[in-house]
Amino acid sequence: MRVPPLLCLLSGLIQVQLVIGKTNFTYDQKSFYLNGEPFQIIGGQMDAQRVPWQSWPSRFSYARAMGLNTIFTYVYWNLIEDQPGQYITNGSNNIYAYVQQAQEAGLQVVLRVGPYICGERDWGGFPAWLNNVGDMTVRSNNDAFLNQTQSWLSWLGNWLNPLAIGNGGPVIMAQIENEYGFYGSDHTYTGALSSQFNSTFDSSIVFYTNDGPSSALQSGEIPYVLAETDGSVYDMLTARPQYVQASSQGPNLDGEYYIAGTDQWGVNNTHASFSGQPDRIKSIQADLSGALANGSSFSIYMFHGGTNFGFSNGAYWNNDRTNPITTSYDYGAPLDETGRPTDIYYALRDSLKPYAKNITSVPDVLPLVSIPSINVQPSFYLFDGLPDPLQMDQLKNIEQLNQWYGYTLYRHVANSTLSGLLNLNYGPKDRVIVYINGQRKGVLDSIYPRDQQQNITLTLYEGDILDLLNENLGRIHFGSDITSQTKGVFGDITVGNDEISGWNVYTLPLDEMPTPSVDAQSPVAVSNSSTPIIYTGSFDLTTVGDTFLELPQWTKGVIWVNGNNLGRFWTIGPQQSYYLPGVWLQETNNTIQILNLEPTGLEGTVVGVTNRTWASHPDPDAA
Ligand SMILES: *[C@@H]1O[C@H](CO)[C@@H](O)[C@H](O)[C@H]1NC(C)=O
Ligand SMILES: *[C@@H]1O[C@H](CO)[C@@H](O)[C@H](O)[C@H]1NC(C)=O
Ligand SMILES: *[C@@H]1O[C@H](CO)[C@@H](O)[C@H](O)[C@H]1NC(C)=O
Ligand SMILES: *[C@@H]1O[C@H](CO)[C@@H](O)[C@H](O)[C@H]1NC(C)=O
Ligand SMILES: *[C@@H]1O[C@H](CO)[C@@H](O)[C@H](O)[C@H]1NC(C)=O
Ligand SMILES: *[C@@H]1O[C@H](CO)[C@@H](O)[C@H](O)[C@H]1NC(C)=O
Ligand SMILES: *[C@@H]1O[C@H](CO)[C@@H](O)[C@H](O)[C@H]1NC(C)=O
Ligand SMILES: *[C@@H]1O[C@H](CO)[C@@H](O)[C@H](O)[C@H]1NC(C)=O
Ligand SMILES: *[C@@H]1O[C@H](CO)[C@@H](O)[C@H](O)[C@H]1NC(C)=O
Ligand SMILES: *[C@@H]1O[C@H](CO)[C@@H](O)[C@H](O)[C@H]1NC(C)=O
Ligand SMILES: *[C@@H]1O[C@H](CO)[C@@H](O)[C@H](O)[C@H]1NC(C)=O
Ligand SMILES: *[C@@H]1O[C@H](CO)[C@@H](O)[C@H](O)[C@H]1NC(C)=O
Repeated sequence: MRVPPLLCLLSGLIQVQLVIGKTNFTYDQKSFYLNGEPFQIIGGQMDAQRVPWQSWPSRFSYARAMGLNTIFTYVYWNLIEDQPGQYITNGSNNIYAYVQQAQEAGLQVVLRVGPYICGERDWGGFPAWLNNVGDMTVRSNNDAFLNQTQSWLSWLGNWLNPLAIGNGGPVIMAQIENEYGFYGSDHTYTGALSSQFNSTFDSSIVFYTNDGPSSALQSGEIPYVLAETDGSVYDMLTARPQYVQASSQGPNLDGEYYIAGTDQWGVNNTHASFSGQPDRIKSIQADLSGALANGSSFSIYMFHGGTNFGFSNGAYWNNDRTNPITTSYDYGAPLDETGRPTDIYYALRDSLKPYAKNITSVPDVLPLVSIPSINVQPSFYLFDGLPDPLQMDQLKNIEQLNQWYGYTLYRHVANSTLSGLLNLNYGPKDRVIVYINGQRKGVLDSIYPRDQQQNITLTLYEGDILDLLNENLGRIHFGSDITSQTKGVFGDITVGNDEISGWNVYTLPLDEMPTPSVDAQSPVAVSNSSTPIIYTGSFDLTTVGDTFLELPQWTKGVIWVNGNNLGRFWTIGPQQSYYLPGVWLQETNNTIQILNLEPTGLEGTVVGVTNRTWASHPDPDAA
């Protein structure tokens, strides 16, 4: 802002009085400054909430040893404010501890707050319960939305402000929105969000936006907020300055310099990685060396990707189908999913070293452990461990049932003969497995375009049980169609010309493993028409350490070890190996539980391997 010179001088004097002995972070048109010294941000992204909290210090050591001086992290609102006004701050949600540990490792921190963060996460980090708030339009100048962001940002600021640079902490910057210019251009909305940041976060923190280049940048930039770009270094150096309005100008920062990319479930998808490709690695080195020589700053996206544990992944909408993100968020990053350095890591270390002050040596790399065989046995049918049902005539989206993630079973008992094509009015928008009297009849899934959906024709006689098991595969995280992200089976469900009403609905978020009812039957003669089965087992280890679980010939499901949800597995790939962190293991009596969604009776032995495999297998459920 322009102020008369005298005032400027006075406020300068007053500021000097106030900040003596304090740390600060500032910028001018050329450079960032940390405590008055030019500071080039050599950053890398690693999201606290994608890494087991026990491993944060180790990951930070590797960051320092690669030559980074700053860690960028998204904050996933949905995991922290799981219920409106209730905040979960332990485990990997403990961003406060994360920031403190980064500081102990000698790193600055940039908080990518959003609150929309994209990040290939469920609904871009928005809590599913926003769907239940009346008149809600996310990412817009909408009272209902801005009321929710205001209360979230106030709470978050209150929690993290003690770690702001001006209070002696490492937090130098906070990002407002994320790539908003790809989504809209309503400057009233971004201005309102910016005021909320201004009133909730410590004034020593520099606020910035991060957008794609050129027109997206102009749509996303906010007056008096530093405007930065992501993507190519060339765009940052050449396009950025000419598209940035005066009050948003500042030094160049590439807020996301992409290493490889995300993996999506699908038979034709391969793992994104440039590991083992010297030419591609040299080009990454050239980009970053060039940016460094130019005096520019950057954040490597991702330095360490980590894992979409549990049900936390997002999904792309691809014209006529969804493409859910895999459990692994390895990203082909310098530090792999298990936190081990790759060839890219060592190459980048060579490039960053001349610019890194006081680089540390690379910590020892611990070997992974193998587990030759884990004995798991069918324990009980999921449908024998159902909670009390909700009874309804018309089905509602799962959010209205106070359920955000996981599975939902819709059960109808026919009271007359019904026959014809099963039609879920909308498409479907999730994955639905269909059963009659406990026999699997088919699968409908939004991963298939409409003309490749199975046509499931049913005949139900009086007393027959129709079950629709819905899996929330992850809400869309990017694009223009993220406004409403309700999940489940709802609206009119018909068989032939008859609309079905009268349902028992069972919510199965699987936060905790269900317990089988007293009259539960033991699964015997498992076949490909069986309903989902929970398998259990236990195993001991001679050495505790990281491993990759593999489940040859299993189709689809979810794995828990010692109560930790490792995430979804799916034969279609490209992911075939599932990261099991050693910090979740012990020497004796490790428990494993597997939700086998589509039993076949041909399941192979579960093993732990030290060398992961990426591969695709045919989709047994494709029409
Ligand atoms: C930032 O800190 C440095 C070193 O203590 C000091 O010289 C400078 O005046 C401070 N700048 C601001 C804007 O507070
Ligand atoms: C977090 O706290 C909850 C409630 O006390 C507890 O159930 C959960 O196990 C804790 N999680 C971690 C990772 O410590
Ligand atoms: C938002 O909050 C304001 C102030 O608390 C209130 O007056 C307004 O009704 C709220 N709007 C909505 C849509 O909830
Ligand atoms: C930010 O807040 C300060 C007071 O803390 C105020 O003077 C300033 O105008 C605000 N700026 C914006 C852009 O809202
Ligand atoms: C996979 O690729 C093959 C060969 O190009 C094609 O025939 C098939 O339709 C593709 N499958 C999917 C699910 O995209
Ligand atoms: C940085 O890059 C820009 C755009 O390529 C160029 O104009 C400028 O001279 C470079 N600056 C330095 C210090 O290399
Ligand atoms: C260099 O790093 C070591 C270990 O992190 C630290 O103790 C020391 O103060 C650092 N020195 C400088 C000049 O930053
Ligand atoms: C199912 O029927 C629809 C509508 O007739 C058709 O478009 C689609 O291709 C059919 N699906 C299969 C797998 O044949
Ligand atoms: C029988 O089923 C039909 C179709 O689902 C439903 O409309 C009707 O209410 C049911 N009748 C009774 C008596 O449950
Ligand atoms: C089970 O396998 C048999 C034999 O391969 C096949 O004919 C049948 O369609 C399969 N059933 C289901 C539900 O996949
Ligand atoms: C092994 O762990 C299970 C589940 O935590 C527990 O019920 C059981 O008592 C333990 N067995 C031994 C031998 O420690
Ligand atoms: C891991 O597997 C890959 C591909 O199968 C192979 O090229 C590589 O040599 C293996 N590495 C080790 C350490 O076994």
